[in-house]
Amino acid sequence: MQVLKYGDYEAMSAFTANEIALAIIEKQNITLCFASGHTPVLTCELLVEKLLNENIDTSQITFLGLDEWVGLPPDNEGSCHYFFQNKLIKPLNLKPSQYFLFNGTATDLSTECLKMDQRIKDANGIDIMLVGLGMNGHIGFNEPGVSSKLMSHVIDLEEITKSVGVKYFKGEVNLSQGITVGLGHLMNTKKVYLQANGLKKAEVIQETIEGPITESFPASIMQLHKCGFIIIDNEAGSLLKA
Ligand code: F6R
Repeated sequence: MQVLKYGDYEAMSAFTANEIALAIIEKQNITLCFASGHTPVLTCELLVEKLLNENIDTSQITFLGLDEWVGLPPDNEGSCHYFFQNKLIKPLNLKPSQYFLFNGTATDLSTECLKMDQRIKDANGIDIMLVGLGMNGHIGFNEPGVSSKLMSHVIDLEEITKSVGVKYFKGEVNLSQGITVGLGHLMNTKKVYLQANGLKKAEVIQETIEGPITESFPASIMQLHKCGFIIIDNEAGSLLKA
């Protein structure tokens, strides 16, 4: 794992977008798996801008959505589905065959998990993951205590994930479970970028980088990733010793 610290959110997002664009130029049939949420917004926007402005071929990309709130329809503006569609899939005009997003309203969620695992297998693994960091150390919806060997799965969400999660929604919403790509897939991913910005993330970033490696704090597993990058701004890095 390497820690890369930037002056602000704009700079860390520009760096990440550029890295991912370069990776796409290098490997046209790349497999990407991104989180939604507030952190990756600018990276996605800058990435799309660069790919379109520079006419970079995206017709061979496979895109996988990292997670979804169980029970939420794809047209709910706070759903991960809505984010992936509007920030990446529509702007890049990806064909349905090029992406897979969990259906949070599927009656058989274990089949959704198997479908995701199969897509990852078919793609020969994920090339790049772009993930955020939850206030309890979660990555995707890998909540504290989850096995770091798990593949795609459904999980009960902690209270903090549910209470922080309301920020994505305009109206009232019932959040109880998530469906997510597991940490087993994250550890098998060729390159992982974990981004965090702002003072509110300073403590969880400190725990991620300087705390013990433990399943009680899922993001700490990044310390073991051979090609894992923690991309932070000065504020998120303000409690780090080094
Ligand atoms: C969302 C996801 C979550 C978020 C995390 C941070 O798809 O995977 O793990 O990355 O909760 O959320 P933000 O970026 O909104 O602070």
